[in-house]
Amino acid sequence: MTDSGVGPGLSKGDSGPQDEIPGGGPLVVLENVNKHFGELHVLKDINLTIHRGEVVVVIGPSGGGKSTLCRSINRLEPIDGGTIMVDGKKLPEEGKDLARLRADVGMVFQSFNLFAHKTILQNVTLGPIKVRKMGKQEAEKYAMELLERVGIANQAQKYPAQLSGGQQQRAAIARALAMKPKVMLFDEPTSALDPEMVKEVLDVMTGLAQDGMTMIVVTHEMGFARRAAQKVVFMADGQIVEESTPDEFFTNARTERAKDFLSKILTH
Ligand SMILES: Nc1ncnc2c1ncn2[C@@H]1O[C@H](COP(=O)(O)OP(=O)(O)OP(=O)(O)O)[C@@H](O)[C@H]1O
Ligand SMILES: [Mg+2]
Repeated sequence: MTDSGVGPGLSKGDSGPQDEIPGGGPLVVLENVNKHFGELHVLKDINLTIHRGEVVVVIGPSGGGKSTLCRSINRLEPIDGGTIMVDGKKLPEEGKDLARLRADVGMVFQSFNLFAHKTILQNVTLGPIKVRKMGKQEAEKYAMELLERVGIANQAQKYPAQLSGGQQQRAAIARALAMKPKVMLFDEPTSALDPEMVKEVLDVMTGLAQDGMTMIVVTHEMGFARRAAQKVVFMADGQIVEESTPDEFFTNARTERAKDFLSKILTH
């Protein structure tokens, strides 16, 4: 069982957001978050609340600030105004607390970012051993459970380059889960994959969502959004332009900006 209540063996319905409220209240809260890169204002007064067990899909045109938003939530990017709270705690500036917080926020990137010279198993056990101070045996046992869960237990002894893109991305998901994060961020996790591998990764993510994991997912995969998300956030020009349910957003977007964006992704 993980801190978030989402263990490898959990099946749908075993745990819901309602039975795991250690701190109570929402899990991630952004208040008036601002971020500049030099003159460029990339996050403009972002307010966003993510509840425990909620899956939020972030969608929008290139350069709108989606990746920057994700990166600021686990503090890969510092913000210059506002606050970000994770599980009731404000993001620390640096030091041990920051390392601990990073471990609470799992992140999966477009490019899988696995360590090339380590096996898949070593990739998954590294963080738990170094940061969570887990024993090697326990870490390996848990890693194997997670690899089983993402369907690549038989690849554990291989190196990343020996795996397909879809398998590498599933290894990256297992690696993030191994830290027992409270929330998982996914930044376009399927956009670097060949089409036939997209489904296997989305299936793993859908399973996580069904098990009650809190997730923020930047993706243009509308099928996933409709199936797994409670909320769609449409971001453009550094702002949250619309926030609604997937059904509402895809069938009845309110703003011209969103309608224009949807017409482009739907027709290409
Ligand atoms: N390290 C950086 N230094 C300077 N500018 C940056 C940096 N990272 C991002 N930007 C700029 O910030 C803006 C937002 O970028 P971001 O990557 O967050 O957008 P995005 O919505 O993720 O786009 P995409 O859909 O193409 O991934 C862009 O104008 C981008 O050029
Ligand atoms: Mg991006």
